[in-house]
Order: sequence, then C-alpha cells, then structure tokens
Amino acid sequence: MKILAFAASSSRNSINKKLARYAASLVSGADVEVIDLNDFELPIYSQDKEKELGEPEIVRIFLKKIADADALIISFAEHNGSYTSAYKNIFDWASRSAKKVYDNKKMILTSTSPGPAGAKSVLAAANTSMPFFGAQILGSLSLPSFNENFDIENSKIKNSEFNQKLLDLVNLL
Ligand SMILES: Cc1cc2nc3c(=O)[nH]c(=O)nc-3n(C[C@H](O)[C@H](O)[C@H](O)COP(=O)(O)O)c2cc1C
Repeated sequence: MKILAFAASSSRNSINKKLARYAASLVSGADVEVIDLNDFELPIYSQDKEKELGEPEIVRIFLKKIADADALIISFAEHNGSYTSAYKNIFDWASRSAKKVYDNKKMILTSTSPGPAGAKSVLAAANTSMPFFGAQILGSLSLPSFNENFDIENSKIKNSEFNQKLLDLVNLL
C-alpha cells in the first residue's frame, strides 16, 4: 500500500508532521511518502492570481501525489481555531484544478497541538468539509498536549491509550 502523509502546516519543525510520520509508520508493509507543504508554496490564491498564473506546476505535482497514493494520512495544525494558511492555500489552488481534490482516497486524519484541546476545532472542520472533496475519511484522532503525550526522541506516542486509538485507526486502512 502506498501512503502519502503530510502535516497541514508549514512549520519547519511541525509537531503534526511528526505525528503524521508516526501514524504512517504504523501501517505495516506500506510504502510511505511524507511531503512538506513548504514545497507547495504558492501566492495567496485569488481569481486574479489564477488568471495570471493559470494552473501552477506545483498544483499538478500535489494532485499527482494524491492520485498515486492508495491512502492519505493528514495531520492538521490549528491556527486560531482553523486551518493554517499554508494548507488552505494549496487546497484552494488544487480545488480549482480538481473539485474532488482527495480523489476518493481512503484517509486517516489526525491533529495535535501543545495545548489540551489538541487542535480539535480544525479537525472537526476537516471532518465536516473534506468528504465534499472526495475524502473517504475512515476515522480521526486528536492528540492533546503533544509535549506530554509524544516521545520526540523515539518518534512515537507515549500515552498508551492514544497510541492504541491510533493503531486501531491505521488498521482500518
Ligand atoms: C498564529 C497561530 C495561531 C494558533 N492558534 C492555535 C489554536 O487556535 N489552537 C491551538 O491548539 N493551537 C494554536 N496555535 C499553536 C499551535 O498549535 C502550535 O504552534 C503547533 O506547533 C502548530 O502545529 P505545527 O507544529 O504542526 O505547525 C497557534 C499558533 C500560531 C502561530
């Protein structure tokens, strides 16, 4: 199985990227590609920019990576209760080329933040809206208090309850 994983964040040291990478590592025998949204940076989407730039090559590459995967794991960072600008921007651009950005792929969604809410609000927004864009969401998990619940040195969740929840989710893939 080919898994495409990424954090919906452009932080160089993204905690969501660590979580997405760990979740993907739990899928036994999978061929995992982890991408970084910094490699998909475009001007802020507007219809004027679209007239000027057409369909940027970066958008084609992003959509091809989704098309080539059997399943996706996306971990959402939360900025002010919602998506990060980096994620919303590549998503808006991609939605102009393909209404079903997520191409009917199976996916697992996660989110985390240093706070106790674990970026739950953005995860709820993603769960609600992504099915309209071709996402077959199998399940989602918010990991609260990242610094307490994730072992950075060994790149894994250290809270056994959350770890089991994530294992149960990836087993659905
Ligand atoms: C502009 C900004 C807004 C933020 N808003 C939220 C928020 O609404 N909820 C939350 O849990 N954390 C919030 N945070 C803290 C992020 O959860 C934290 O920066 C986290 O590391 C982001 O995930 P990432 O490392 O994967 O980018 C915010 C951070 C920034 C810089």
